[in-house]
Amino acid sequence: MSEARTVIVLAAGKGTRMKSSLPKVLMPMLGRTLLGHVLEAAHPLQADQTMVVIGHEAEKMKQHLAQVAPYAQTATQEQQLGTGHAVRVAMDSAPEASGTVVVLYGDTPLLRAETLSAFMSAHESSGNTATVLSAVVDDPTGLGRILRDSEGAVTGIVEHRDASADELAINEINSGMYAFDAASLRQTLGMLKGNNDQGEEYLTDVLGLLHQAGKRIGTFHAPEVEDTYGCNDRAQMADLQAIMQGRINTEVMRSGVTLDDPSSTWIDVTVRVEPDVTIRPGVQLRGDTVIGAHSEIGPDSTLIDTSVGAEASVTRAHCVSARIDDECQVGPFAYLRPGTVLAQRAKAGTYVELKNSLVEAGAKVPHLSYVGDTDIGPDANVGAGTIVANYDGVDKHRTKIGEAVFVGSNSVLIAPVSIADGSYVAAGSAIASDVEAGELAVARGRQHNASGWVSKRRSGTKTDRAARNAAKD
Ligand code: UD1
Ligand code: CA
Repeated sequence: MSEARTVIVLAAGKGTRMKSSLPKVLMPMLGRTLLGHVLEAAHPLQADQTMVVIGHEAEKMKQHLAQVAPYAQTATQEQQLGTGHAVRVAMDSAPEASGTVVVLYGDTPLLRAETLSAFMSAHESSGNTATVLSAVVDDPTGLGRILRDSEGAVTGIVEHRDASADELAINEINSGMYAFDAASLRQTLGMLKGNNDQGEEYLTDVLGLLHQAGKRIGTFHAPEVEDTYGCNDRAQMADLQAIMQGRINTEVMRSGVTLDDPSSTWIDVTVRVEPDVTIRPGVQLRGDTVIGAHSEIGPDSTLIDTSVGAEASVTRAHCVSARIDDECQVGPFAYLRPGTVLAQRAKAGTYVELKNSLVEAGAKVPHLSYVGDTDIGPDANVGAGTIVANYDGVDKHRTKIGEAVFVGSNSVLIAPVSIADGSYVAAGSAIASDVEAGELAVARGRQHNASGWVSKRRSGTKTDRAARNAAKD
């Protein structure tokens, strides 16, 4: 890289119109915060320094940055005195910044690395003192307008609220992203005055001042205007999210994945889906989720931080921090909670909840069960309605079900308890003591039939008549 680069991201604002307790730039969108998306787009620029200007909720912002962009430094702007002031604060805490300074906003999540690097190359090869990422739009309301002289050279930017009627008619707008020669920027920031409608130091005034100083200013038209969209309220955020969803889904489909209904499919940018996966309508794939080849997900399933192997099926399920290996079957109507591991060909069927449990290869929990803190051996079968009582009201305990164990329907296994390899539990048992290999455990009341009870105690009822008819036959 020939020239030094500094990235400055403005993120000091509260985002009042979001009406959120969270600062706007920390609001989530398909796998990252708004700010996280911007930093991700800027990362390939390999800047020598990345500086985030923070103010509102500074501690929260620092914590978030430590997680998503530990390389970023922060500069605190105590009072929001304008975008120019914010950049001045950043430049003051980066006295060594030279070469090119790129200024971005923290609330433009659709900005892509390609757009930014094309913009950078255009700036660096132009010899401009400043280049503005601009766009021509149908409705420029509220945005700064690019001013040009009769030769078409950029002479400055005027804010909507400060613009004359003629200037308001201009539809070339300032996206709010710029590349500056560092030394010229530093010098000009010191000359800013708040003599405008808002009494703020406008970064945009730097451009007019540079022009007056005889410096050349250029524009770079964003190839896709969406890249520059910011969001101020939740309605706008939903619009941007829909655009991002479209981009992600298009990329996923082009990589060989079938989406039955892209509009109801929400895949975070952090998710990986392998080729020949089929995704049915109503699926959300979140966080660190990975889906292996030839698997089928959905309809109506949410997978959060969950890995699915190849050729598995997950139908109407909610899975959080679970691992589902190759050829497993999950659902319909299953809930896999954190720490669930289904080894190859295992099954968690209908109305089954699993938590912090290992289901080894080929083992099945097919119907209506709760299994918590349990290890289930290979090829075991846990009958319909089996409940693991893992919690005694104070502590949680583990249960072990061995290889090829058969647990009869409607049993309760009271933890801690161990059912050894190759044993049986009779249906309807309440198992509180260990079962040894090869045993059948029966733990239920013995059946007693009271002969003639119906004719004595329910005489004249329809049941009694049915009993008499049966006796005649
Ligand atoms: C700004 C531009 C406008 C452009 C528009 C694009 C200025 C004066 N105007 O207007 O030309 O068309 O963006 O969206 O720059 N911020 C700080 N500290 C401050 C003030 C702002 O960090 O003291 C941050 C805000 O949190 C926000 C960003 O800078 O993320 C933009 O500030 P805002 O006041 O919203 O500028 P706009 O009115 O949108
Ligand atoms: Ca704004």
